[in-house]
Amino acid sequence: MKLKIDSRGLRGELKVPGDKSISHRSIMFGAIAHGTTNVRDILRGEDVISTMNAFRAMGVEIEDDGELIKIHGTGFEGLKQPKQKLDMGNSGTSTRLISGILAGLPFESTLFGDDSLSKRPMDRIAQPLRMMGANITGQTSRDLPPLVIKGGKLSAIDYQLPVASAQVKSSLIFAALQTPKGEVSKIVEKEKTRSHTEEMLIQFGGEIAVSGQTILVPGGQFLIACDVTVPGDISSAAFWLVAALIVPNSEIVLKNVGINETRTGILDVISAMGAELEFLEQDDVAKSATIRVRTSQLKGCEISGRLIPRLIDELPIIALLATQAQGQTVIRDAEELKVKETDRIAVVADSLSAMGADIQPTADGMVIQGETPLHAATVNTLGDHRIGMMAAIASLLVSSGEMILERAEAINTSYPSFFDDLERLDGNS
Ligand code: S3P
Repeated sequence: MKLKIDSRGLRGELKVPGDKSISHRSIMFGAIAHGTTNVRDILRGEDVISTMNAFRAMGVEIEDDGELIKIHGTGFEGLKQPKQKLDMGNSGTSTRLISGILAGLPFESTLFGDDSLSKRPMDRIAQPLRMMGANITGQTSRDLPPLVIKGGKLSAIDYQLPVASAQVKSSLIFAALQTPKGEVSKIVEKEKTRSHTEEMLIQFGGEIAVSGQTILVPGGQFLIACDVTVPGDISSAAFWLVAALIVPNSEIVLKNVGINETRTGILDVISAMGAELEFLEQDDVAKSATIRVRTSQLKGCEISGRLIPRLIDELPIIALLATQAQGQTVIRDAEELKVKETDRIAVVADSLSAMGADIQPTADGMVIQGETPLHAATVNTLGDHRIGMMAAIASLLVSSGEMILERAEAINTSYPSFFDDLERLDGNS
């Protein structure tokens, strides 16, 4: 598709769509709990729909009246063998978390996905789930999808995660819940990652003890349905935060932004870079806030260490931000970017370089020189939603020529209304 160029400024107010991580988990917990779970403000992106369809295929009734999602939970024991292979689409989160549920169920199922998902390593979940007793077969030594899972009786695990991954942690928590009563699994994180599974488990009446990076999960748990309101996705808000900062004459108010502190690394980084950011309202129970952001003069910085898991999905758009800041920005310790929907170190560097940016990819990140004018180019998302949205925001800085985005439909995986929201904000100046 042809992207809009040469913005005169983005202005207005926006309610950010529901958080993808929390939306997935609300369906999963709703299914494995007993009773009816009502979910408000869920993200209806393709990834979350893959999760919903997987549970429908396992016999869970899920109603959607356009506003509320009602999940008629069956408990683990009520989930049935799906009649077909489960299509996970583009969604790594669906595949890894559902594998933890399937690992304890007494039937065989197959998970498959699109060309991007078929390249994503599942050994990170398959290995520990095998240690717990599941029988899992993937393709090649990395256990790429399709994955065949023969679930059954599981036993507790004592496991140190070799990667900082909320998906692996969550998969193991779902499996640990199905171990016998009296057994306790110990999961130790490499770095603290997003805490949505732990928090939602408590919301559904479950038991979990978290102390620093150590998590204890008792087996044989019985979960009870509850009501969930999904806050807005800070990973989607990130595109507007950056757009407002770098497109001259912009001011955007973002309502309903989720501010769980395991996700707010981007706010810390842009504040340190000099962003004009204001919290207008904050709801500490819902963990959401209304944030105003204006075009600001920014300086480059270093992003590394513990900060990385707190902003891993925002690094593509932060890379674009860095091309407009003063001086150099260095991103380190982010090798996980290589195993996202695309190799985001290579694809971010290639697509922004095609637009004239000065970015050096490194083994675990990138080095970006600032204050670089961008020009029109053709960018291919390669099926990666966040590359598509990054390119669409970058195009607003291009003053002439034709900016083409190939495979733009990838954006629907996490933000189906992205271009409508862009149109609204851009039309207000
Ligand atoms: C997610 C965890 C992260 C993130 C992904 C969503 C989740 O992946 O990149 O978009 O919902 O748990 P990793 O666990 O692989 O880091």
